[in-house]
Amino acid sequence: MPITNTTDLSALLQQMLAQSQPLYSTGKVADYIPALAQVAPQQAAVAVATLDGRLHSAGAAQQSFSLQSISKIFGLVMAMNRLGDELWQRVNMEPSGQPFNSIVQLEWEQGIPRNPMINAGAIVVADVLVSHYSASKSAFLTFLRRLAGEEALYADQQVYLSELEHGNRNAAMAYLMKSFGNIEADVPQVLEHYFHQCAAAISCEQLARSLLFLANRGVQPSTNEQICSRRDAHRINAILSTSGMYDQSGEFAFKVGLPAKSGVGGAIVAIVPQFGVITAWSPPLNNYGNSVVAMQLIQQLADELGLSLF
Ligand code: DON
Repeated sequence: MPITNTTDLSALLQQMLAQSQPLYSTGKVADYIPALAQVAPQQAAVAVATLDGRLHSAGAAQQSFSLQSISKIFGLVMAMNRLGDELWQRVNMEPSGQPFNSIVQLEWEQGIPRNPMINAGAIVVADVLVSHYSASKSAFLTFLRRLAGEEALYADQQVYLSELEHGNRNAAMAYLMKSFGNIEADVPQVLEHYFHQCAAAISCEQLARSLLFLANRGVQPSTNEQICSRRDAHRINAILSTSGMYDQSGEFAFKVGLPAKSGVGGAIVAIVPQFGVITAWSPPLNNYGNSVVAMQLIQQLADELGLSLF
């Protein structure tokens, strides 16, 4: 185990948080979803949950933020559990090398998204959920609550409505995929599900706990429940390593070396197999849509503790 001393880890998190604050000004809060533009930029948090049940954190680690693209992990687990290997005929597992909301590849590649971590891929996953659950939005929240062990998790209505109103680019992708036969349900219903899962509100501490099963071969350590198969946990970590940070995934693997996922709400989650989960949050983003402070916090922690898988 790379971490042995609880006090040292908490002190390290505090120290890293203080050092990373000058980076606030180098990023910009997402404003293409107007509700996200209202979030105060100068906030940050970091949390580490370990398989043995410990939780360390610093900063605003109990404050909720918008889950955004990190919801793609939870949706993917649900769709893999429902559809099995058939899912991989509808979405690929290759890095896209394009921004998360790029549309160009979709036409070249006949409506099959490059991977489930870009918006187009997550919209296909949303279609699977809408088609396989009678109430997919509440099924998603129930799954999230079960994993986080928190009944109170909710979807932020203001963010949800803001995305619905400003989601033309996602709608364009969904209709293009529908024209290729890769969306089964009605597009508005699929988009509603997708925006609703993106609008889930969660804190760093809750998020770190909720994804521990990915560091533990599919088993949630607090309940011993098999959330996904060992093979699927491996596959999801592989996809996060190659595509979780969008077109900055190569740089993230180079500098950090952990499966990870970002969201435009400013959070990043990194999986440390056989050890635990790191989450960091701070709203200002770089040009790729990844939080500058959260990137720095995770990179520094992985470095200090020697967590890289490579
Ligand atoms: O669909 C969107 O654009 C947002 N709801 C989610 C995008 C996102 O979080 C990309 N992350 N870096």
